[in-house]
Amino acid sequence: MNSRRKVLRSLAAASLSLPWLSAMAGTQLKLPAENDPNYWDKIRDAFMLSKEKVFFNTGTVGAMPKIVVQRVFEHFEKLATDVADWDYKSDIGWIGGYHPLPDLRKKIAQLIHADAASIALTDNVTSAMSYIAMGLNLKPGDEVLASNQEHGGGRSSWIVRSKREGILYREVVLPKPIRNNDEVLSIIRKAIRPETRVLMLSHIITGSGAILPVREICAEARAKGILTVLDGAQTIGQIKVDIAEIGCDAYVGCFHKWIGAPPGTGFMWVRPDVLKTLWTSVSSYQWDNHEDEGFRFTQRGTGNFSILAGLDAALDFHAEIGPQRVYDRIKYLGQYLRDGLRKLPKVKIYSPVDEKMCAGITVYNVAGRTGAQLQDAFWNLARMRPRSQGDEFGVRHCTHIYNSQKELDKALEIVKSLAA
Ligand SMILES: Cc1ncc(COP(=O)(O)O)c(C=O)c1O
Repeated sequence: MNSRRKVLRSLAAASLSLPWLSAMAGTQLKLPAENDPNYWDKIRDAFMLSKEKVFFNTGTVGAMPKIVVQRVFEHFEKLATDVADWDYKSDIGWIGGYHPLPDLRKKIAQLIHADAASIALTDNVTSAMSYIAMGLNLKPGDEVLASNQEHGGGRSSWIVRSKREGILYREVVLPKPIRNNDEVLSIIRKAIRPETRVLMLSHIITGSGAILPVREICAEARAKGILTVLDGAQTIGQIKVDIAEIGCDAYVGCFHKWIGAPPGTGFMWVRPDVLKTLWTSVSSYQWDNHEDEGFRFTQRGTGNFSILAGLDAALDFHAEIGPQRVYDRIKYLGQYLRDGLRKLPKVKIYSPVDEKMCAGITVYNVAGRTGAQLQDAFWNLARMRPRSQGDEFGVRHCTHIYNSQKELDKALEIVKSLAA
């Protein structure tokens, strides 16, 4: 076992700082050697995903590695069996929502280059974004600017607040496909008005896979005193996220897509001076705890600790393969698909024209077809599952580390036959 693995293994055992959880972590992760020629096939074997089916819909919810499911089961079983052991003398982590989870927050902080104290665990992106939208000090007439391609879980809480309190909510139209970074920057720059107080954007757009130039956008906004809130639902585990480098004021994300954690795992990070002034929307004992700002929001009543044990394992799985290796593989497969699609007649790609703005999400259609028709054809012909994007935009086709070049060759064959 190399030293990195040893470190990770001991990290896995200690990460939640809960004595019996680390003791029972009997199932150990066994990954192939880094130079194994069949490395990615073996990684595929580490997932529970049925070999009868091909999964291209990570953008909705990711497939979980076996180790993640095992850790969840182990915790559930322990809870069901030994709940009577809990004597309240020490917090041994029976129920999520009451534990500050410093080590898990630290692990997340390391992944995204942020400070752990300013990270709160949430159930998902929707709840994280709602905490921010509902908790910021805004007054009637202040404007929140977003793009027209935001997910409902990112934009809706701002709309609710605008209806309720008279803040302004406005959407700027981004093209689809986007051509390049400059195009986006120029559109956002022109859309900012004197009353704009908040700029809320996806880091990766859900319906096209476009990676927005968030560092440049945030710099522009900061110079104008505008608070930036980024929706990273599609980024964590797909591309590198370095919050310090991006320079945003708030970032929300989830782990149940590209990290392969159990559904119901997300986070928010808010810049410390802003977090201090953010009101809680879901409140319990910690609502006014300014010693641990992240805990103020992490505490949200009784929750599911078992999925947090799974999240912990998923973060280790990602770390053990190596984040950069994961991102490179995702990008390689995504580009392989796009290169193949570009050669096919009648195929229109809605992901950005500039390949630098793309990673593992490709959105495309075949002339004369709808997304539902494409989705059905993939399933009926090869048990492949991309996701329909409606009549115009075809399908969203995600590539992750459990996908292979062979699967993409087959998918391209299907698209070719539909385009014929
Ligand atoms: C950009 C974006 N924001 C928000 C969400 C909602 O995420 P969650 O289900 O974690 O709330 C999604 C889900 O697809 C998304 O793609």
